[in-house]
Amino acid sequence: MKVCHQIVEIKEIISRDKRQGFSIGFVPTMGYLHEGHLSLVRESLQTTAKTVVSIFVNPTQFGPQEDYQDYPRDLSRDTARLEEMGVDYVFAPSPNEMYPPGFKTYVEVTQLQDKLCGRSRPGHFRGVCTIVLKLFNIIQPDWAFFGQKDAQQAIIIQKMIKDLNLETKIKVLPIVRDQDGLALSSRNTYLSPEQRQAALVLYQSLQLAQLLFEEGERRTSTIKQAMINRIQQEPLAKIDYVEIVEMENLDEISLITDKALVALAVFIGRVRLIDNVILAEKGKKE
Ligand code: PAJ
Repeated sequence: MKVCHQIVEIKEIISRDKRQGFSIGFVPTMGYLHEGHLSLVRESLQTTAKTVVSIFVNPTQFGPQEDYQDYPRDLSRDTARLEEMGVDYVFAPSPNEMYPPGFKTYVEVTQLQDKLCGRSRPGHFRGVCTIVLKLFNIIQPDWAFFGQKDAQQAIIIQKMIKDLNLETKIKVLPIVRDQDGLALSSRNTYLSPEQRQAALVLYQSLQLAQLLFEEGERRTSTIKQAMINRIQQEPLAKIDYVEIVEMENLDEISLITDKALVALAVFIGRVRLIDNVILAEKGKKE
């Protein structure tokens, strides 16, 4: 496995592979890899001839009061795991390599970027789209792999691909959870044991939504209120948002007709966690 830190280096390797007819799979990450990331890597290894994983904690997607400096990093552990799995290339650039002095161009997916997480993290999706488009331009992947854990991110990236006529195809893979249901996240490392326990309330409230839906409830106000009540029973949890939206425009809906995204963000202490579930009439999940 080759680890590249420079754009020219990875570009050269990939254009050689492409000339030889190899298909390229790409998994963008911010590192501190867990099974959620690795599920994407496995899918890429099975889908394409070559797999590139990027590890870059992207400063432009963090707000000024957010955890850019503290975000967990462990490049040598990450590269060891990726090498074991049979990944071909890791691209791990420096911030200066991706954003040299004088950098001025940003990509925005209007409207979608202002909903859900965008409301409490202004500028976040502008940073995500900018870095993902840069990485796509550098790596030119045939396939790129994203997690349903960041549902809004996956929807926005797919919209960017469509609107900007990019050639890359996307696969969105299911949320990987710990045995007790907590969605895996690099940010879980911030949680104390007590907070880790309290964080289960995210998944529990989503399971409650699922249960109500299966029992026939279609009014989103009822489902949302039940979720909010459940979360408020947990003293360490503070709701950022709980929303039930349609999957294309992320607009709130009052009645679920065939399919809806139930998404939430909850602070456990100072740690902001997100999770979601798709509610769908049988046979409508895809
Ligand atoms: P990061 O949070 O490192 O996540 C990288 C990819 O792993 C994303 O597609 C995310 O949805 C997926 N992922 C994270 N936790 C997951 C889980 N529990 N189950 C399944 N997939 C999971 O998302 C980013 O980085 C950045 O915004 C990035 C796209 C790399 C741009 O900087």
